[in-house]
Amino acid sequence: MFKFWKGREGKNNSVSESSAAIGNNIHEETEEQIVELKGRNIQRFVAPVIGLTVLDLAEKNEVDWNSFCKRGTCARCRCHVSEGLEYLSPPNEAEEKRLDPEEIDEGYRLGCQTKLEKIGAISIKHAPYF
Ligand code: FES
Repeated sequence: MFKFWKGREGKNNSVSESSAAIGNNIHEETEEQIVELKGRNIQRFVAPVIGLTVLDLAEKNEVDWNSFCKRGTCARCRCHVSEGLEYLSPPNEAEEKRLDPEEIDEGYRLGCQTKLEKIGAISIKHAPYF
């Protein structure tokens, strides 16, 4: 397991274990490929990265996952989580505005808003409306 700072090129990339929970710019990564991402045509098991959104993780691993606004309004990144909701951030305000409560209850999320918060097995399928 290792950690790195996002967007701080040229600085010391290692951080202490205790600081991993502070701030949104610190990402924790494991090498275990326990997150299943099912894009439109590409399906991969990838390593989780704490702090990344589902969309960021899909893009990092070259899984075909549509997006446009990355602000939680267009829903092109909409996805369905069939396993591991407990390892993801709870729905934020943007998701609650854009998705119906029934969708959220069924496990639908916005990939650009949902962040990985804990290490664990997760299965997510890209599920846009169109
Ligand atoms: S990219 Fe538009 S809602 Fe996620």
